[in-house]
Amino acid sequence: MNSHSEPAQTEAPQKNFVKAAQTSDLPIGSMKRFMVEGHGLALANINGTVYAFEDRCLHWGVRLSDGSLEGNVVRCRAHSWKHDLTKGEVVVSVPPGDEGTHFTTFATKILDDTIWVSTEPNPVGPADAAIFAVSDGANGTCCQPDCCQTNSKE
Ligand code: FES
Repeated sequence: MNSHSEPAQTEAPQKNFVKAAQTSDLPIGSMKRFMVEGHGLALANINGTVYAFEDRCLHWGVRLSDGSLEGNVVRCRAHSWKHDLTKGEVVVSVPPGDEGTHFTTFATKILDDTIWVSTEPNPVGPADAAIFAVSDGANGTCCQPDCCQTNSKE
């Protein structure tokens, strides 16, 4: 960020959102662990969309952020269970039988260069995620034609 940039958003976009990371901390295809009120959560950037989820495998509780991000799916490093972040559910368990089990996801918002995460879990089902837009710094526009700087599903 240079000295001509707008100041980073310092206040939560709405109640129950907490600051989780800067967008520069989460390149496309990466994951990052962070703590909220003593709970380990993780962020993932899937092709420019940011997902937040509980950083705990539904099998034996290993940190998902230590696994690998493969498309929409986080593969646990321990026994290769696969968690689809867009669906909020396990898609592969070893042995089979736990597919379709939901894990906890959280809504995200991006304001300026800050990623905010809701402290309230999403209802069961597809995750509510924010599109990772890179601002060009001019009039709040962004460099991606089909999105805006603060867009998120609401
Ligand atoms: S602890 Fe994640 S697959 Fe076993």
